Amino acid sequence: MERVRVVAIVVAAGSGSRLGADEPKAFLTIGGRPIVAVAVREAVSCPAIDAVVVVAPPGDEPRMRRALADVAPEAVVVTGGATRQESVRAGLAAVPDDAAVVVVHDAARPFAAPGLFAEVVERVVAGADAAIPVLAIPDTVKRVRDGEVVSTESRDGLVLAQTPQAFRAELLRRYHERAGTDGREVTDDASLFEAAGAHVVTVAGDPLNFKITTALDLANADALSGGGRG
Ligand code: CTP
Ligand code: MG
Repeated sequence: MERVRVVAIVVAAGSGSRLGADEPKAFLTIGGRPIVAVAVREAVSCPAIDAVVVVAPPGDEPRMRRALADVAPEAVVVTGGATRQESVRAGLAAVPDDAAVVVVHDAARPFAAPGLFAEVVERVVAGADAAIPVLAIPDTVKRVRDGEVVSTESRDGLVLAQTPQAFRAELLRRYHERAGTDGREVTDDASLFEAAGAHVVTVAGDPLNFKITTALDLANADALSGGGRG
């Protein structure tokens, strides 16, 4: 297989409002290290990834460079936007034109293993337009309205989407541009590919690759990282 240039964008510009800390989520620590440093360390440990762009909260770019100094001093730091989608766009603008594959990853998922990055990249190199990790839904799914259950939904064919998500770079640029023009707002980049009828394949996600969203997630991630003692 021909070696193509692969660039990862790690989006870390969110405020973490559901966590309610007084600083951006990416800078909160797990095992004594900023979440973003753990996430980026995993990404750069993947031999399939040639370069990393990290998207920082506006005004926190110098702090981001300091947070990454020991794990990825060569990472390019850019300024994020008001939504995740805007932050991905800002990251894309810093991806060199010769990148054939772009991987988009949430800093809020610090436990994505290098092998998972490699797997999604591999599927795109092999011909898919996009590849994403997915997990089965463990719970029974109900539809509710005004505090009352309307129905129980079949889980058949439903999965939970994770990042890292790998994409043909040319299509990712095109679809983000189109979404910007159309004012279409999505919560993951693969949605743009699905809407365009592109070929999005799945790989097995990892339960450990959970997203730190709440204070409980942060406590779990810290415990898994050794709680600052490891
Ligand atoms: N993100 C970003 N720019 C934004 C919003 C989100 O780069 N304007 C990033 C976050 O930093 C995170 C990822 O997108 O790594 C997933 O978003 P989420 O978990 O929702 O993080 P936040 O938006 O920060 O959290 P919340 O929604 O609770 O405010
Ligand atoms: Mg958010």
